[in-house]
Amino acid sequence: MPEEKLSARYPTDLPAWKALKAHYRDDMKATSLADLFKRDKKRFTGYSVEAAELTLDYSKNFLDSKTRKLLVKLAEETGVRDAVEAMFAGEAINTTENRAVLHVALRSKLSDQVALEVPGVAEIWQILEQMTQFVSAVQKGEIRGRNGRQLTEIVNIGIGGSDLGAVMASRALRHYWQPGMTFHSVSNVDGTQLVDLTEKLDPDETLFVICSKTFTTQETMTNANAAASWITDTLGAEAIGDHFAAASTNHDAMDVFGINPKYRFGFWDWVGGRYSLWSAVGLSLALVIGMDRFWALLAGARRMDQHLRNAPLEENMPVMLGLISVWYNNFFGAESQAVLPYDNRLDRFPAFLQQMQMESSGKGVRKDGKPVKVGSGSVIWGESGSNAQHSFYQLLHQGKRFIPVDFILPAKTSNATQEQQDLAIANCIAQSEALMDGYSEEQAIADLINAGATSPEAKKLAPHKKHPGNRPSNTILLERLTPSSLGQLIALYEHKVFVEGIIWGINSFDQYGVELGKRLASDVSEVVAGDSDYEGRNDSSRGLLATINRLKS
Ligand code: F6P
Repeated sequence: MPEEKLSARYPTDLPAWKALKAHYRDDMKATSLADLFKRDKKRFTGYSVEAAELTLDYSKNFLDSKTRKLLVKLAEETGVRDAVEAMFAGEAINTTENRAVLHVALRSKLSDQVALEVPGVAEIWQILEQMTQFVSAVQKGEIRGRNGRQLTEIVNIGIGGSDLGAVMASRALRHYWQPGMTFHSVSNVDGTQLVDLTEKLDPDETLFVICSKTFTTQETMTNANAAASWITDTLGAEAIGDHFAAASTNHDAMDVFGINPKYRFGFWDWVGGRYSLWSAVGLSLALVIGMDRFWALLAGARRMDQHLRNAPLEENMPVMLGLISVWYNNFFGAESQAVLPYDNRLDRFPAFLQQMQMESSGKGVRKDGKPVKVGSGSVIWGESGSNAQHSFYQLLHQGKRFIPVDFILPAKTSNATQEQQDLAIANCIAQSEALMDGYSEEQAIADLINAGATSPEAKKLAPHKKHPGNRPSNTILLERLTPSSLGQLIALYEHKVFVEGIIWGINSFDQYGVELGKRLASDVSEVVAGDSDYEGRNDSSRGLLATINRLKS
């Protein structure tokens, strides 16, 4: 069935949805994870899946073979397969912007027969080649700064999808940074990041990479102009051409800024901001890790793309993750999801996923313009492993909210000692056990008495020590954090988000929800600058602006 026809159907009207509702009510609502493990001694084998180098254990979830069958049926009835093929074929599945969605083409091989007829697709490899030459020339010192010094301090200037991917991946792959090369980033509009950087960087060694699909974003252009002033103040007006590179779809604007034509890297409207790391937006990352590693990142993502296209739905890792997410959102009423990586190198992965998932799935209107009738778009949050344990795990273990968790766990250390990574592994597994098994009041009483408490003392304290358990989690295992496994991990979540969106019938690829605030900000800017009057605004804003004026003066 054509994609638009499939997405016009409410998932709640489908037989699989109705069957899942009954299954939840009759079989799952009162079932505990412990029961599921008692009933099936081989849950790991039955409820884990491998894709490329990743293993997903989803056995610690509220599902059995009937649930999986029904969820897969839901994927079939909502046309997940056709939608995936429509994406790869270059159909304009971003319907509100009438655009194809082809981040998958950015990491494909020509032999994959990607949608070459879509304008720009045939240029992908040309730009990658241009990046390869540039990265190599900068790293070898063939391209140098205005005064002949080697460019080793790479500063990405961008925001949202033009920042988060490069920042996250550069931290994740810190152990692959080429000797002497350093990654920095500037995104926020208030300017402090740039000030902090310029205090310690030498302009002679600094290369700014302006990343902006539009090259008009207020935050990015403000920071880019401030960076340009710093360069021209210290190295002279001519230095812009030597100390700035750019990735954008807006060639005229790069021209006006004074970007050297050889340092400009184009991409295309079918690359969404939050899906753009694979394009020239990855340039700052590539400059630091080297182009071979960047190619490996792309190749890793491609392996996940192939898995998405070819694996049966019930053995399809992103499909299963998307289905579990829908299961918890819409049948268990989950409102948020925690993502907890047990490798500090992934400390910005939750932030990266926040944009990817919340900008993609945070929609209240379906593709056909009708309201989404079910909860869509979880709040994504998280932090790296043990740091999170010593912060918000209290709420995960004993709070009243239902929060499914994704643990991400490398078996081998990135580049610390394996002994330390073994501690991280032990903590991660222990946490998933504690969430699931909990700690009963009876056990707490027994332990307290054993430790010397009197029976009344033990009974008084035990309710506070009790962990209810029965809290679900996925664990995603990887051998080690490498460019390839990182590529797989990112693509896994990209496709998970896509699958959710197909089921809810939403367009995962627009972001109108960020436009209104941007528009109002430019309006309010005039008031803050004193160029227009705040009297016409609401009482709260008037009060705030008047107080701010007083504080500033
Ligand atoms: O925040 C909204 C957004 O449109 C993101 O989707 C995008 O990644 C970001 O702004 C930056 O936009 P640009 O790359 O055009 O500067």
